[in-house]
Amino acid sequence: MSVAEKDINQAFVSLSKAYAGNLGDPYPLYKKLRDQSPIYDGDLVADFGVPSLAAGRDGKRKVFCLLGNEVVTKALMDPELYSTEVWREAFGGVLGDPVLLYMKGPEHKFSRNMLAQILSPAAIKDMVDKHFKPTIEGMVKSFVANGKAELMSAFILDFPIRVIYELFGLPSKDPAAYEQFSTRALIMVLGGLIDPRKPEEAQERIANAFQANKQIYDQIIEIVQTRRASGDFSGYDMISQLLRYEHEGKTLDDDAITQFLLPNLAAAGETTSRGFANVLALLLERPALLEQVRNDRSLVKTAINETMRFEGSVSVLPRIVTRDLEIDGVKVPAGSGVNILVGAANRDPAAHENPEEFSLQKRTKQALSFGFGPHMCMGMPLAKVEMEIALNTILDLLPNIRFDPAGNYEGIKGIQFRSPPTLNVEWDV
Ligand code: HEM
Repeated sequence: MSVAEKDINQAFVSLSKAYAGNLGDPYPLYKKLRDQSPIYDGDLVADFGVPSLAAGRDGKRKVFCLLGNEVVTKALMDPELYSTEVWREAFGGVLGDPVLLYMKGPEHKFSRNMLAQILSPAAIKDMVDKHFKPTIEGMVKSFVANGKAELMSAFILDFPIRVIYELFGLPSKDPAAYEQFSTRALIMVLGGLIDPRKPEEAQERIANAFQANKQIYDQIIEIVQTRRASGDFSGYDMISQLLRYEHEGKTLDDDAITQFLLPNLAAAGETTSRGFANVLALLLERPALLEQVRNDRSLVKTAINETMRFEGSVSVLPRIVTRDLEIDGVKVPAGSGVNILVGAANRDPAAHENPEEFSLQKRTKQALSFGFGPHMCMGMPLAKVEMEIALNTILDLLPNIRFDPAGNYEGIKGIQFRSPPTLNVEWDV
């Protein structure tokens, strides 16, 4: 592990601890509370000792939690009542502007349409064959001979950043440029989220995150300028597509292209890393299911979908309510914070049969781990395809993969975000 890799891994483990709080498994409590009411008058995230984004930067906003599948789905469908502005506050401006998550109305629709065109199925397919598959396979091949690895630092934290780097269309044959980009990306993403209980540490992290954002901005805009000058922008990578983009006779300038790319970097990294870590962890915990998936690769997609229901990486979505409302007899005043517990809603028996079971049977209802409604994740198809490639590659190249008994597997942890902090595995060489 290089020094930079080690630092980043330590930062990730410490952030994972901050997300984990003092309770490893929140589901029994979710079940107990959800059986009583779909809404909880209080902030479970803060109760668990985890920084709560809905409570605001000083942690003082009154917060309610939604746990039932129906109320959660309704809330996600109504961003006018359940405002996503809280994300702007949570990231403290680190992601720049514009950011889809806290855009509204026609401007939001326009940007979503633009991103949907750029992340079209044809574009993703082209990028998968030409770039993502060879990259992910190359990453895993580089440590196959070792027979063991801590997979979070050796592979899982990095591969979604590599994928997005190539998706943007940044120079893939320049390892130093990539190294700089990935280090800055992690500083930017991990630094944006703050812990109100540690103001000094938060200040330093935010300052580093702003600096990393500026450095990535400079790195990207230089490439955009060079590409525009060369006239070579025929591919499916995002920079090429944004350079070609035209709407009602208008095109995008270099700054607009760069600003459009940056938030996707934050959206695509940690979410996918933690999501994939959960897929692998749940299968490693269940060797019979792992064997089943290894022998029948049509189950790879099912395992990923079921993981996103059973243990999605993004487990809580914060909102602020814009008018007074009442749910199940509980009065929620305008201006309150709401933590939408998608992790709890995904285990609601009213929506899913045997919700507490991780099963490779196909389920009929989609989980809410990628959100729902107007702000539903735009990167879901990309994230799923990346996770499929990563799982198939690991099953192909790491025979008989299993937990390393010396690795102290801690299980999947966290409230706001969930994943194992580390994943020590071994395989036959
Ligand atoms: C497993 C991986 C991922 C998970 C679990 C995930 C989850 C989510 C969730 C829950 C939201 C909605 C947030 C809210 O309503 O408050 C969201 C939004 C978004 N995601 Fe993802 N995401 C993942 C990967 C990606 C990737 C790879 C991209 C790549 C571009 C991406 C791009 C976006 C964007 C642009 C939005 C904002 C959409 C909007 O506000 O209109 N995500 N994601």
